[in-house]
Amino acid sequence: MKARDPIVEIVSTGRYLPDRVLTNADLEKIVATTDEWIMERTGIRERRIAGPEMGAAEMGARAARIAMERANVLPGEVDVIVVSTATPDRLLPSTACDMQALLGATNAAAYDISAACSGFIYALSVAEGHIASGNAEIALVVSTEKMSGIVDWTDRATCVLFGDGAGAAVVRRAGTGRGAVLSSFMRSDGTLAELLWRPAGGVKVPMDIAVLDEKSHLVKMAGREVFKSAVRSMAEAADQALMRAGLTGADIDLLVPHQANMRIIDATARYAGVPMDRVFVNVDRYGNMSSATVPIALDEAAEQGRLKQGDHVMLVAFGAGFTWASAVLRW
Ligand code: ACO
Repeated sequence: MKARDPIVEIVSTGRYLPDRVLTNADLEKIVATTDEWIMERTGIRERRIAGPEMGAAEMGARAARIAMERANVLPGEVDVIVVSTATPDRLLPSTACDMQALLGATNAAAYDISAACSGFIYALSVAEGHIASGNAEIALVVSTEKMSGIVDWTDRATCVLFGDGAGAAVVRRAGTGRGAVLSSFMRSDGTLAELLWRPAGGVKVPMDIAVLDEKSHLVKMAGREVFKSAVRSMAEAADQALMRAGLTGADIDLLVPHQANMRIIDATARYAGVPMDRVFVNVDRYGNMSSATVPIALDEAAEQGRLKQGDHVMLVAFGAGFTWASAVLRW
């Protein structure tokens, strides 16, 4: 496939992480687990947990304000806010509308998309479409996740994996040559939905006492099956983003994968032919923050000087749905 001219560029990024740190030692006091088990199976040492007063819209707004300040973009200049979240503050209206109000982005359209952990790359593609169509010049892409609010804190197989946080990017029509989105790819397989889901609490099985008793409104996951699909899908996503950008793994200066599990990150990097010293990892400090992991990692990588002008950066993610997605940027 021939590489296309970039349509949009990422001007800036920002992130918000709650102050409260929950370590593996803390978890040992909550469920029957050990630091050794969690480290060996996942690579996670600690994660951040948002307080009861902190919602997804507020976390996202904090990340967005940083990105907007860095891009010199005023709230009134934003044309569209695309929010990815698996943990909306409430089901109606969208978290994006709440965020718009918090930001005072009075000229923006605002809505949520639901693509779980792949959501940032999906939302980036959606923003690209708005800009390509001429309906927007400046888009705010925000992923915000309060995973601590949807995990079952009595289920050791899931509660040790997740954390809270938000990441944001200001996206505009390509022009400067920096932060250009060279390629992107998205795919889904809804036949595997029940491997990672919240079975009840929507309109099909509404919330009632039985749902609350069974905790079927919280995350359920078939870890081993998810693991296998994640490795396979991340490999396909890496292949597709590289092919669409006309590049190979050897051209990638930094791989920014979804941060769910260190073993999935290792397998993806190995498959794509990117050595580990060119892979950004923060799963040890934050756990899996669903769609917020990719923009937070990108923001930390930029801050740490791991991204030089002209570098090729590959984003790859996988999540519930299943969904998987990837993109190649030229920084
Ligand atoms: N502490 C101690 N023991 C545990 C824990 C825990 N926290 N959790 C599970 N175990 C036990 C199980 O009960 C089981 O015990 P048994 O053998 O006596 O039955 C044993 O450990 C093995 O359990 P498995 O689930 O088979 O362990 P596995 O090696 O598969 O590791 C893990 C589990 C870490 C969840 C792994 O499957 C995984 O990472 N899967 C992918 C998860 C993922 O990436 N999800 C998110 C992707 S999409 C998104 O981000 C929303």
